[in-house]
Amino acid sequence: MTKAVIWDFDGTLGKRSGRWSDTLLEILDTESPGHGITASSLMPGLSRGFPWHNPELPHPELADPDAWWDHLLGVLRGALASVGVSGSLADRVLARTRSEYTCLDRWSLFPDAIPALDRSRRAGWRQAILSNHCPELPDIIRGLGISHYFEVILSSAAIGLEKPNSQAFTCVINDLGHPETAWMIGDDPEADITGAANCGIPGVLVRASAPGLDCAPDLLAAVDLIEQREAARVGGIDEEMVRYYSARADQYDDWYLRRGRYSHGASNDGAWRADLEAAATWLDGRPFGGRIAEIAAGTGWWSPALARKGELTLYDAAAEPLAIAATRLVEAGLRAQIQVRNAWAEPDRMVDGVFTGFWLSHIDRARLEDFLDLVARWLAPGGLFAFIDSRQDPESGAVDHRPPEADVQVRKLDNGTSFCVRKVFYEPADLAAALARAGFTDVEVATTDRFFVLGSARRRGAV
Ligand SMILES: C[S@@+](CC[C@H](N)C(=O)[O-])C[C@H]1O[C@@H](n2cnc3c(N)ncnc32)[C@H](O)[C@@H]1O
Repeated sequence: MTKAVIWDFDGTLGKRSGRWSDTLLEILDTESPGHGITASSLMPGLSRGFPWHNPELPHPELADPDAWWDHLLGVLRGALASVGVSGSLADRVLARTRSEYTCLDRWSLFPDAIPALDRSRRAGWRQAILSNHCPELPDIIRGLGISHYFEVILSSAAIGLEKPNSQAFTCVINDLGHPETAWMIGDDPEADITGAANCGIPGVLVRASAPGLDCAPDLLAAVDLIEQREAARVGGIDEEMVRYYSARADQYDDWYLRRGRYSHGASNDGAWRADLEAAATWLDGRPFGGRIAEIAAGTGWWSPALARKGELTLYDAAAEPLAIAATRLVEAGLRAQIQVRNAWAEPDRMVDGVFTGFWLSHIDRARLEDFLDLVARWLAPGGLFAFIDSRQDPESGAVDHRPPEADVQVRKLDNGTSFCVRKVFYEPADLAAALARAGFTDVEVATTDRFFVLGSARRRGAV
């Protein structure tokens, strides 16, 4: 599989000490000491006319470097004139601007640039630069000693297209030979991230944050994030979910208890508690008895209620949450068998009841019926299956979680580490239909007011 990272340059991998206004002022300082002009007085004249101020307009006529600089020097001449610099002084300043601006001494890399480029290259990512920049960008990249990391280096000056214009992203994708997957990393929410997203390229905003965007504090974190997302996309999500719940074990009950990042204010938290109470009452009313298997039992929030009804065995793929479940049962004076076991493992015996909490929503839509068939194979004829799961509600998860996209959700731990999990909000009617198709009878699927779906059914056959 070919995968590529498209990097922005200026503000992302590297920077210039001093921007356009500083360049002009520094030249003025030597050409006309004591000129009294300030950066802020130059700003109005520098806030329009640059090619990237009109990204919707392609500018193929500026693709030649001299043509690009002629245009830009015209803009700078206007800015100088607006502060009273004209004639031969303006000519002298502008004659030096190109070489001063592109002088390598002024450009440097951010300290995390090379470690991040190394990490992504080691992980097999092909790399490109797409930057709204001057024609000399490839020379600057070469001068900074990082050109060997990149298969493609595109400056907007050379291609006549400015981000966020979609055609700029099309250019880099074409030059990369259409990798199967591509990510953008940049520091500009609009030009880099929204621009890429408009072309179906996901992006990570670095050194900044913006609501609704994937953000990373630095370049290494950005590479880690795209690695995780990619691993999840190509099928590693099942393992990632287990890693997530292992790492989250000691924070997991914060979700039930509306603590920390899971609190959504008194009113929402009150509604949550009422729904949780309703779910617990509903579970108490299920006629479980005999041998009960609890699949993906996690920290065992529901286990005491089940252990009071029969001979309970808790299963989960992660040991850490099960350790918390064990303590919970001991503290309640209850007993159960506890075993690390994958939910997809073939049953090794038959039981009278199967319960699972918040597990169905982690199952791929394409596999839901396979799982229900597996539940049926666990159950003795007439055996009872019950589940509690999530309804989609913006106040259900952590305050810093966004809703799933394409059934995949990015989850964070308290320390900011993020993981991808599958999260499918099945409609109650779809669950009921799937249970019926899997041969269950007495199918009942209901909901609490806001947060939960509650379902039960029996395996066909005499009890
Ligand atoms: C949302 S938690 C639910 C925990 C618990 N049932 C509850 O209701 O609070 C999902 C659980 O599924 C477990 N899990 C994830 N993948 C699994 C797998 N393939 N097999 C078994 N358990 C898995 C996780 O370790 C986690 O404890």
